[in-house]
Amino acid sequence: MLNALFYGDNLDVLREHIANESVDLIYLDPPFNSNATYNVLFRAPAGQQSEAQIEAFEDTWHWGDSAARAFDEVIRSRHTEAATMLHAMRSFLGENDVMAYLAMMAVRLIELHRVLKPTGSLYLHCDPKASHYLKLLLDAVFGRANLMNEIIWKRTHAHGSSKRYGPVHDVIFFYTKSNTFVWTDPRAQHAEGYVERHFTLTDETTGVQFAPITLTGSGVRHGESGKPWKGINPTDVGRHWALPGAILEDLGISSGTIQERLDGLDEAGRIFWPKAKDGTPRLKWFVTDLHGVAIPDVWIDIPPISAHAKERLGYPTQKPLALLERIIAASSNESDLVLDPFCGCGTAVHAAQKLNRRWIGIDITHLAISLIERRLKDAFPEVKFEVHGVPRDLGGARDLASRDKYQFQWWAVSLVDAVPQGGKKKGADRGIDGIRWVRTGPREGDVDRVIVSVKGGEHVTSGMVRDLKGTVEREGAAAGLIITLAEPTREMEREAAASGFFESGLGRHPRIQAITIRELLGGIKPDLPPLGRSEGFRRAPRERGPKAEQGRIEL
Ligand SMILES: C[S@@+](CC[C@H](N)C(=O)[O-])C[C@H]1O[C@@H](n2cnc3c(N)ncnc32)[C@H](O)[C@@H]1O
Repeated sequence: MLNALFYGDNLDVLREHIANESVDLIYLDPPFNSNATYNVLFRAPAGQQSEAQIEAFEDTWHWGDSAARAFDEVIRSRHTEAATMLHAMRSFLGENDVMAYLAMMAVRLIELHRVLKPTGSLYLHCDPKASHYLKLLLDAVFGRANLMNEIIWKRTHAHGSSKRYGPVHDVIFFYTKSNTFVWTDPRAQHAEGYVERHFTLTDETTGVQFAPITLTGSGVRHGESGKPWKGINPTDVGRHWALPGAILEDLGISSGTIQERLDGLDEAGRIFWPKAKDGTPRLKWFVTDLHGVAIPDVWIDIPPISAHAKERLGYPTQKPLALLERIIAASSNESDLVLDPFCGCGTAVHAAQKLNRRWIGIDITHLAISLIERRLKDAFPEVKFEVHGVPRDLGGARDLASRDKYQFQWWAVSLVDAVPQGGKKKGADRGIDGIRWVRTGPREGDVDRVIVSVKGGEHVTSGMVRDLKGTVEREGAAAGLIITLAEPTREMEREAAASGFFESGLGRHPRIQAITIRELLGGIKPDLPPLGRSEGFRRAPRERGPKAEQGRIEL
């Protein structure tokens, strides 16, 4: 499958479009059930008022028809362990928001398990408030033995919290589908000063710095580890031979008796004889033998995205690219398929693209999908991908309008490169569904607003044009644009035409104009001045070649 973005509910997309055992790696960062509403921030052109916000999604799940249906589907599925677990959770929790969340997650985890290859891995990113329940669900769906790690990621700097310790971490569960799985054994750099502190000696033959590693352990032992080698008997100083297995394995000297292995080290020029008379021999561990430290399961080396970071796009809950790069580099190979079913502003797909993996992203918010489209094109101008679920014809547009008024508005507004306004609160939009910033002159500050109003109903009237005219006047904007799903009436067109023109400094354009979804889908553009340069979603910096940041581990 080509790289793909799907707009829609991940449960439907998984069931309809993703084949059994086709995915190598899944990362999911579902909304946490924290009763929060998340706002997307939009950048305004330089010199204009502060950033606009819009509610993108809420993460509150309620016990209702769809939660009950999800619960039933799990109970009736052939996943008896998941069914037993969910049933037990319902007995304990009752029917409430948390239970709704768990039922919705359980039915999705079953689908995710289905699409994962036998060698695949799943990383579930969550909050400590939900993690204990999710771990039980994951145990039930993936099997307890397949829990590889519970990763603690320090996601923020300390909080002032007077009544408890500052909550600063997220939890990321790493499960595999079986005990044979892709693992690239990623390494991080040693802590700063580590080499200088430990590799203090220089080998006379090669000139390479080395650390002297002891070859004995404390306590007298009898048997092989207490026998002398080259006249040195460690028991004389209350010790026994104890060779560092991992290093010897790296050097290819892992078989034979202790004395034979010591001979092997000596032949390889790896024995250091301290000058002190009774000094026992040491192993020369060259600085060139170092290949980084294994990454522990507590991650404090990936900072949150700061308010001014270049990668910050204004999407709530955006995760740092370095976090996803670490996960993808560790648990997949180049060309493998990575899936993020709750992809938000697309951090996982961005990291996958950067590391030469194939990818699929799914999100139920149209804003997220259009943001990712922009993000990928900005970061990887040559990138190729498909977008599914976004209306491509009038039928699709009607369907979206009937299913979700707000998603329809956000989609329609994106067709004219405008920034959505208002959000889901009643009356929040004050008649403004979007703002398109336009150039009105050659200088950076020469910009003005065109107010966009979207009408998704089957009937449109000239009253709508009059309302828009009123809003344009009230707001002191340059012009108004009304986008309709239905064809405009004659009267509407007359009303719009009677509004005259505005001079943008770059040309003359209608003050009020109407355009249909049919026209927009057919490639017809509204008659407006060019876009202001810096409006809308923030831009992702352009990426160069694949590189996974593995940070520096403080041990
Ligand atoms: C916590 S955010 C993910 C943020 C993402 N990791 C990033 O770095 O941008 C969760 C996302 O899940 C989406 N979502 C919620 N329910 C969904 C569903 N049923 N299907 C697909 N996406 C969903 C929301 O729209 C939101 O964008």
